[in-house]
Amino acid sequence: MSLITWTKEQFGTNVTVADDQHKVLFGMLNDLDAAVGAGDRSVIGAKLDVLLKFVVDHFAEEERLMQSTSYPDFTAHKAEHTKLLGTCGDVAAKFNRGELQITHDTTTFVKDWLVNHIPAVDMKYGPHLNSKGIN
Ligand code: FEO
Repeated sequence: MSLITWTKEQFGTNVTVADDQHKVLFGMLNDLDAAVGAGDRSVIGAKLDVLLKFVVDHFAEEERLMQSTSYPDFTAHKAEHTKLLGTCGDVAAKFNRGELQITHDTTTFVKDWLVNHIPAVDMKYGPHLNSKGIN
């Protein structure tokens, strides 16, 4: 069973590039969670790496769209991204040094962050970007 499932009702921003990236991100997180269940450290490391690289690119794309359209909540939104990347970077560094394991608690932490961030923060830029012709 998947850890997280994208639905338009819960996660739709009405911005295609963001929705498409969120769907890919959810798939990567589900893959990582499945790898955690299987317990192969090298697979977990590879899935974690792919996920974190994608998150960096996704946040950069959202920030580019917000900044280029003078989105009023850009600074607060970017701060949330920066905080998560800091936390995830610490986790990945500790994992790579063999100081901690990636567990279902780790994947659930990321899921909970997404379940909060997308509806409460991402979905707010939809009307603004739509008004600038970005759908
Ligand atoms: Fe889709 Fe603000 O992250």
